[in-house]
Amino acid sequence: MQTRCATAVACPNIAFIKYWGNRDDDLRLPANGSISMNLAGLETITTVTFDPKLKDDEFIFDGVPQTGPALARVSTHLDRLRNRAGSALKARVESRNNFPQGAGIASSASGFAALTAAGSAALGMTLSERELSLLARRESGSASRSIPAGFVEWYAADSDEESFAESIAPPEHWALLDVIAILDSRPKSVGSAEGNRLARTSHLQPVRVADAPRRLEICRRAVMDRDFTLLAEIVEEDTRRMHEVMRTSTPPLNYLLPATEELMRAIPDWRAHGLPAAFSIDAGPNVHCLCPEESAAEVERRLRENTAVRQILRARPGGGARIL
Ligand code: PMV
Repeated sequence: MQTRCATAVACPNIAFIKYWGNRDDDLRLPANGSISMNLAGLETITTVTFDPKLKDDEFIFDGVPQTGPALARVSTHLDRLRNRAGSALKARVESRNNFPQGAGIASSASGFAALTAAGSAALGMTLSERELSLLARRESGSASRSIPAGFVEWYAADSDEESFAESIAPPEHWALLDVIAILDSRPKSVGSAEGNRLARTSHLQPVRVADAPRRLEICRRAVMDRDFTLLAEIVEEDTRRMHEVMRTSTPPLNYLLPATEELMRAIPDWRAHGLPAAFSIDAGPNVHCLCPEESAAEVERRLRENTAVRQILRARPGGGARIL
């Protein structure tokens, strides 16, 4: 038997309407649907080599061989791909991010999207975008949204086959920028997979989930009409609702730093005074400041005035996962 190898690239995404909490933890079926934008220029590149000589899977990240939970997660995902292809071959997975390591940008979305695309290609499977999205979802919910291009919606459903993500508009649909203010680059103490399991312990989660169809509808309309004011309001509301659920979980989760909260007050104020900008915050303290391209320079200037901001990254709407 020969070695079989493929390389894929994928970018992370920022959710406008967030995924937080599952209706089924094993299948990773989300409690609510979500909408996101892929982040161009931030990339994970992954090469998967199935090799008959390997006795175990290997995972090398940014040149460093991984063990423990990081390797176990990759191996579990490779098992899904192997089961599907009817293969027992072990694999070497070499992955690197072109964005600063530990910048606090979630890499599980781009990482598992790239692994799904490269792994399935290396096993000789030709899967549709929908099938790739379904598979990526099983290891990281947000990875399902890094498979299709541009502005993406991931559907909540009660069955494995129906909960996939698809593009609602291509990257060139809207020159929207994500100006990312990095406040802290340390790994978070509670990962998003564990956080997602805690969501159901908050009394606010059922309210947040029940209202999701309304937020999704407004967000979809804002994206389709390129209506920044509408987008800004719904994105900020959705972020606040998710962080309220986190704070009222048992045990409670608080990912925000004082500077995050300062910017959550300042950014809507900038908007009220004529600068189009909106915040979105994931399971970490960093602030994603969304804005139309023409306001990006001024947004960046103001973010830099905050002494807690260590680094700034900018991303346009990005493409989907692809084989190189
Ligand atoms: O799929 P995960 O484990 O990366 O969870 C993502 C959770 C958030 O980033 C907080 C929200 C989202 O929809 O991306």
